[in-house]
Amino acid sequence: MVPNELPAGIPPTVLVVDDSPTFLTALLDHLASRGFLVLIARNAEEGLMRAEFGLPDLILMDVVLPGIDGFEACRRLKCVEGTRDTPVIFMTSLTDPRQKIIGFDAGGVDYITKPFQIEEVMARIHTHLALRKANRELQQMCEQLNRAKAELVQNEKLAALGALVAGISHELNTPIGNGLMIASAFEDQTKEMRGQFARGEPMRRSSLDAYLNNASTATEVLVRNLHRAADLVTNFKQVAVDQTSAQRRTFLLAEVVAGNILTLLPTIRRTPYQVLQDIPPSLMMDSYPGPLGQVITNLVTNAIIHGLDGRDSGTITINSGLEVDDGVIMTIADDGNGITPDNLLHIFEPFFTTKLGVGGSGLGLHIVHNIVSDMLGGRIEVRSTPGKGTVFTLYLPLTAPKH
Ligand SMILES: Nc1ncnc2c1ncn2[C@@H]1O[C@H](COP(=O)(O)OP(=O)(O)OP(=O)(O)O)[C@@H](O)[C@H]1O
Ligand SMILES: [Mg+2]
Repeated sequence: MVPNELPAGIPPTVLVVDDSPTFLTALLDHLASRGFLVLIARNAEEGLMRAEFGLPDLILMDVVLPGIDGFEACRRLKCVEGTRDTPVIFMTSLTDPRQKIIGFDAGGVDYITKPFQIEEVMARIHTHLALRKANRELQQMCEQLNRAKAELVQNEKLAALGALVAGISHELNTPIGNGLMIASAFEDQTKEMRGQFARGEPMRRSSLDAYLNNASTATEVLVRNLHRAADLVTNFKQVAVDQTSAQRRTFLLAEVVAGNILTLLPTIRRTPYQVLQDIPPSLMMDSYPGPLGQVITNLVTNAIIHGLDGRDSGTITINSGLEVDDGVIMTIADDGNGITPDNLLHIFEPFFTTKLGVGGSGLGLHIVHNIVSDMLGGRIEVRSTPGKGTVFTLYLPLTAPKH
């Protein structure tokens, strides 16, 4: 496009605010002959009114005007939603550079010194109209991107929910299926026994023994499977971290960590591993100590069960310190087996476990992630080197968000 040529479509509107009839007429002629729609005003008050109702694409504003000056008019335009983004070019015969600075401070985008060459005026108008158009397109693109992002998050959440429901059914199916099978076999045996009894058939000691043996095996298997189902349900409940019942209070982080380690001591003592804690004693938080404790317990338990599994010795270290911007950084590290890069991509997903069938349900880190990001308002990161160990890093605000 030649610089002074207008693109096809609705012609842009330019508002000219100047108290000199000679200038106004000259600009009106030039602009109109080049296809612009032109609004004119002879003082700032009139200009503000025309701008508010005409919503021009660009404003040429004289600085020295009767009443309010051009700078003040520009400041007022920048406070109004409809004209906030309208580019204002100042026109003045003042050559003092300080005046230019005041003009830019007031929100002007450019300066034209009178007397001017009309071609220079046109070039500047075209440049600022093009800039404005590009800005608007960028803004629209940003809005579109934000909408797409929100949709993606929503879809992702729905997919995660679907996976969760599928996982829950699958996990519960095993203990309930086992229980059902055993219970119905036992029911059959009992019916048969009852039949024999009703028919008055002689009851041999060996068959009574067999029945009683079966009964105790069946009840034992039933109890085990029902416990497993109950444990799973407890875990599932934690996935939807109950934000209303959790108690918020101010607490010393070192005390909460120490308290949680204390409850893990019986487990830790049965292993050859040690847990070290280095947290500044005065570090105070206003957050949810219960869920935070759950996070620490999960991460330390994982370090024992997965990280240090099969090792003769090992150390779990919990460190923390203040971060800029009112935050705490806490690391929970082990010097154990580490996690392979492939697995590392999935550890926060529900039901991802490398201990399937031997106690792992794969919900621990999913719950940890939910608590940290939703309830505590922070984030969690993980770094791991196979053979060297794993470090989980928590970034937590000192003051948790309101729920
Ligand atoms: N410190 C660690 N070192 C090595 N692997 C780990 C560590 N922490 C987690 N993992 C890996 O991440 C997987 C997922 O952990 P997560 O806590 O979610 O489930 P889980 O411990 O297997 O089961 P659950 O916690 O539900 O009983 C684990 O199965 C393990 O493979
Ligand atoms: Mg776990």
